[in-house]
Amino acid sequence: MRIALFASGSGSNVENILRYFENDDFFVFPLVVSNKVDAYVHQRAKSLHVLSFSFSREDFLSGEPVLELLRSYEIDAVVLAGFLLKIPPLLIKAFPGRIINIHPALLPKFGGRGMYGDRVHRAVVEAGETESGISIHYVNENYDEGNIIFQASCSLAEKDTPEDVATKVQRLEHEHFPKVIESLWRPLAAASTRERE
Ligand code: GAR
Repeated sequence: MRIALFASGSGSNVENILRYFENDDFFVFPLVVSNKVDAYVHQRAKSLHVLSFSFSREDFLSGEPVLELLRSYEIDAVVLAGFLLKIPPLLIKAFPGRIINIHPALLPKFGGRGMYGDRVHRAVVEAGETESGISIHYVNENYDEGNIIFQASCSLAEKDTPEDVATKVQRLEHEHFPKVIESLWRPLAAASTRERE
C-alpha cells in the first residue's frame, strides 16, 4: 500500500505516521506533498529520508501535475495530515474512497471552509464547548463533509485556552491517526496475498 501524505504546515502528524510505519512491509510512504515551499514538514520529511514536493496553489487546484506525480510513484491512497487546500475533483475521481483527512474537532461541528488548525480551537473555546476531539473522514468535494471513519473526544475545562485544546487534540491525533490508517487498509494486505496465491 503506497500512501502519499499531504501537509501544509508543521507536519507533526506526518512525522508521527512515518515513524509508526517505519519498518512496515505493507505500508510504504514514498512522498510528502505540500502547497507551501517553506512548510516545516519538508524538513521533517528530509530527516526521515522521504521525498517531499511543493505545488503552487494554482497547480494544486488544477489537479493535473499532482495526479501525474502520484501516478509516477504508483500511489494507492492519499492521507491529508494537516492539509489546508480543497482537493480538486480530478484527484477525488482518481482515488475513489482512497483519500482520508483528519480534522481537529468533532465534526459536523466546527468544520467547513476557513475552519483549520488554531482557528478551530479558538471557535471551540468561544462556543464554551465542554469537549472537543478529532474526526477522521473520507474526503469528498466539500470541506469536511465526507463519511466519518473514526472520532475520539477529550473533555475540556472551563479555563482551557485554545492552546490547551490544541495540545489535547494533538495528543489524540498522534495516538489514533496511524492506527486508523492501519485498521482501514491493513486488510488489503491479506487480500493481495490471497490474490497472489
Ligand atoms: C492538525 O491538528 C490537523 O488536524 C489540522 O491541522 C493540524 C496540522 O498539524 N487539520 C485541519 O485543520 C484540516 N482542516 P501538524 O502539521 O502538526 O500535523
